[in-house]
Amino acid sequence: MNTIDQYAVFGSPINHSKSPRIHRLFAEQSHQNLDYVAQEVTAENFVTAVTEFFAQGGKGLNCTVPLKELAYRFATQKTERAKAAKAVNTLALRPDGSILGDNTDGIGLVNDLTVNHGIVLKDKRVLILGAGGATRGILALLLEQKPDCLIVANRTAEKALQLAIEFNHSFDGCGFDDLHDQPFDLILNATSASLSNELPPLPENLLAKNGVCYDLAYGNTPTAFVRWGKLQNASKSLDGLGMLVEQAAEAFALWRSVRPDTKAVIDLLNTER
Ligand code: ATR
Repeated sequence: MNTIDQYAVFGSPINHSKSPRIHRLFAEQSHQNLDYVAQEVTAENFVTAVTEFFAQGGKGLNCTVPLKELAYRFATQKTERAKAAKAVNTLALRPDGSILGDNTDGIGLVNDLTVNHGIVLKDKRVLILGAGGATRGILALLLEQKPDCLIVANRTAEKALQLAIEFNHSFDGCGFDDLHDQPFDLILNATSASLSNELPPLPENLLAKNGVCYDLAYGNTPTAFVRWGKLQNASKSLDGLGMLVEQAAEAFALWRSVRPDTKAVIDLLNTER
């Protein structure tokens, strides 16, 4: 049995994950004695790997693509925000041996937008591009911010419409072709297009004056969507590095009952790009 508390991130592919670096920085900063590693785990071997991890004394896990729905099913208890997302990015061993599933993606995004970047969402017009797992993870927390309107637009319009039904029409779903309404104050890219350096097909004049663009994906060079935002004269065109650090901080706080200083870590990672 290890004497140092063990944590890990599971996913596939996982070799470029920044999570071990982020959690080790948090641990160093808050004097927590723990180790955190990245482990390549596919959907096929998820249950075996996670069972083994906790059987060997592991304390907590992050789960990323393509494992978040499987982690949701594995958790024996779930937070409300995990239930809303039907996806889990954080598993925590509880003192009674049960496994709590949480989803810290939405709070990570909202904290990055509102705290780190001073962006107010209340009464604003917000557009989310994409209707997949990434969107699911952020919807509930964005709605809590009481935007004036929230629209989810997807390449496959039907998927966005279905998502709106699932969330009791608390937002509208549509296809990209239907986006000829008033411009938006905040456009979030939650498609996986950035991963292949592609851009969803977007109409002109979609972004309001002084509007903000935010890509949930991140990279060492600006993503296609971040570049698009700059071309649209966005007041800020941001990628998801801040969200990554903030969601990690929420997981760390759940595991260790200590809230790390995210700003120091974001600043450091930005210098390493
Ligand atoms: P994730 O967990 O990253 O959200 P996902 O659940 O597979 O992954 O969802 C991917 C999302 O990105 C979907 O909304 C997908 O649109 P479709 O539902 O029409 O497939 C969207 N997407 C992926 N590549 C895209 C592209 N090149 N242009 C526009 N949307 C894209």
